[in-house]
Amino acid sequence: MTTNFWLFATRDTRPIIDSNYYFWEQGNVIERTLCGELNINDLDKMVTLAGWVHRRRDHGGLVFIDLRDFSGIIQVIIDPESNQMTHQRAGELRSEWVVEIKGKVIRRPEGTENLLMNTGQIEISASDIKVLNEAKTPPFYINEETEVEESIRLSYRYLDLRREKMKNNLILRHKVIKFIRDFLDARGFLEIETPILIKSTPEGARDYVVPSRIHPGDFYALPQSPQQLKQLLMVAGFEKYFQIARCFRDEDLRSDRQPEFTQLDLEMSFVEEEEILSLIQDMYKDMIRTLTPDKSVPEVFPRLTYKQAISLYGSDKPDLRFDIQLKDITNLLRDTNFGVFRSIVDSGGVVKGIVAEGCGNFSRKQIDEFIQFVRDRGAKGLVTIAISDESNTLQDISFDNVRVFVGDMLGFTDPNKLAFAFVVDFPLFEWNEDENRWKSPHHPFTAPKDEDARMLDGETTLADIRSKAYDLVCNGNELASGSIRIHQRELQAKIFKILGHSHDHVIERFGHLLNAFEYGAPPHGGIAPGIDRLVAMLTNSDSIRDVIAFPKTQSGTDLLFGAPAKIDEHHLKELGIWKSKL
Ligand code: AMO
Repeated sequence: MTTNFWLFATRDTRPIIDSNYYFWEQGNVIERTLCGELNINDLDKMVTLAGWVHRRRDHGGLVFIDLRDFSGIIQVIIDPESNQMTHQRAGELRSEWVVEIKGKVIRRPEGTENLLMNTGQIEISASDIKVLNEAKTPPFYINEETEVEESIRLSYRYLDLRREKMKNNLILRHKVIKFIRDFLDARGFLEIETPILIKSTPEGARDYVVPSRIHPGDFYALPQSPQQLKQLLMVAGFEKYFQIARCFRDEDLRSDRQPEFTQLDLEMSFVEEEEILSLIQDMYKDMIRTLTPDKSVPEVFPRLTYKQAISLYGSDKPDLRFDIQLKDITNLLRDTNFGVFRSIVDSGGVVKGIVAEGCGNFSRKQIDEFIQFVRDRGAKGLVTIAISDESNTLQDISFDNVRVFVGDMLGFTDPNKLAFAFVVDFPLFEWNEDENRWKSPHHPFTAPKDEDARMLDGETTLADIRSKAYDLVCNGNELASGSIRIHQRELQAKIFKILGHSHDHVIERFGHLLNAFEYGAPPHGGIAPGIDRLVAMLTNSDSIRDVIAFPKTQSGTDLLFGAPAKIDEHHLKELGIWKSKL
């Protein structure tokens, strides 16, 4: 279907082009038809198309061109009998040239239809071809989903993004963000932007900093998240806030971590944990059922305490697509003579295993694969207790990995099954051996559970204090994190003290927040779902890089622009951060 727009223009002014449905040709405005929108109902229409040469085939005289624009692909046929000039021009076209083609919609001959394509019953009989721009031969095929080295894809990202899979990933990303905005708008949330140039906001990573020209020697920090700003918005009375927020963290990168990424940042006043979890559950459920109906999602997201998650699955983000649990087998081994177990039992340790039903008859080769798998992750060996007599050694195995490995082997890790769950009651503090101090596993603004708060005064009980922090996990990924916050100045100051911050340091770094808490701060809480991880999961992508238009490499570089890059001496001097080598 072609959409009709009115276009207003005078001879001397440029046209107001509402979309790219129109373009000029020698003073006339031509209506452009989108390739992917044509179908059998458009037979006999005269159309003008514009796009990229997706593929060109010469069939002894007849030339076929698959023409691609953003909406889709249509086949164009050029017959030497009907137009020699056009035919000659078609012969010169190469992949990725940009062309404008005029022609008539005709029915494809019987037997040549392609019912997998929207446009598969028709083709365009071309009467005119105009080359709008030529193109070099691309470094990889745009028209085939072949494996291409990622560094080449990132260096030519504008070509990589032309490929079907990447285009669809970004379309889904757009839909996810639009869904979130509509969903929250309908529930009375207000989207508010917060600054990017700010002061350090601790979220557990290093800050990216920006030198100030006007205040030489001083720096802004880019937000690791808008955490404190959203809390200040609660103090300001905005009760329901959200933002599609860019966050910046200088940390070791992985397939699910980028130095800049996007969160749905959300905060509410006068809420309890329950209200936030149920809002998030409804949002994910509705979104997935609407946008990716081929994926299954539970009606009610199960909840696990942090302790249960660690004890049953060995992870605070367990993959619950399959219910293989860790079993405490210490009691069964009370009388063992087997040295490794003996020493663990004698020293009061715990021996755990997983029941991997269906693996009992694994071949030697499959068991060796297991053993190699745990060795690759730092274990010395693995006991395959297959109710048989096999036994090797069991050391400090990362059980979550073993579970997932077994799950994978048994075919339980279907990417279309989304096993969402909430993990709640995280500890408020964890002891950090390297820094010899308590740290917040979440962030220092998280409130303790009411019934545990009195333990804050006892140094020995700090590790047992549970917090009002929660995570949304799915298929072994942490998708979102949040908490009910502290909203009283004294309690916040006490937490900073336990975390080892001096009074002066607290005033210097968090004075603005503590002051705000003295002007009627409401009880509040929130959550921040990572958008990149969500979209990667919905598109079955292995890395979040595949759902970000211009991501950085694993080592934080932008291969397209060549960032980070040196800046010149003059610029450094202006910023007050230039040091003479002398
Ligand atoms: P947190 O630091 O847990 O919480 O982050 C929330 C979610 O953001 C995503 N995420 C990332 N995604 C890609 N690359 C990264 N480097 C990265 N780091 C985090 C994850 C994670 O679950 N202010 C708190 C939230 C709150 O308490 O409301 C925060 O930022 O999906």
